[in-house]
Amino acid sequence: NQPDTDKDSKLKLICEVLERNVDYYNWVGFYFKNGDKNELKLGPYVGEPTDHTIIPFGKGICGQVAESNANFVVPDVKAQDNYIACSITVKAEIVIPIFVNGENIGQIDIDSNTINPFTKEDEDFLEFVCAQVATIL
Ligand code: SME
Repeated sequence: NQPDTDKDSKLKLICEVLERNVDYYNWVGFYFKNGDKNELKLGPYVGEPTDHTIIPFGKGICGQVAESNANFVVPDVKAQDNYIACSITVKAEIVIPIFVNGENIGQIDIDSNTINPFTKEDEDFLEFVCAQVATIL
């Protein structure tokens, strides 16, 4: 087992690579289940700092994915009632769960400043990224 700091630096690097290489990925971060609590805790991220370092299950797009275990693609955040705004520049969001031994242990969360930017290719690609991430946790 590697120390958490090593894992965190790898996760941060993944955020950086994604944010730098895809022009419509403008905030890229990880949230993980916070111990035994029914809440998510912010992990490594790249982009504007967010106040939402803890998100209760069920709240916002991230909190909903913690309960649904399913991808959530939001083409237009303005059309979402259960949404937590981190920045007024954000127009769209995609959240993909991370499974370890079949358990939803966290997620990758990507915000875009472009409206409706995410395709099935993004979903497939980010599922692949999450599967790779699961192997280093
Ligand atoms: N918009 C998210 C909150 C996290 S920020 O995007 C970094 C949500 O509604 O869950």
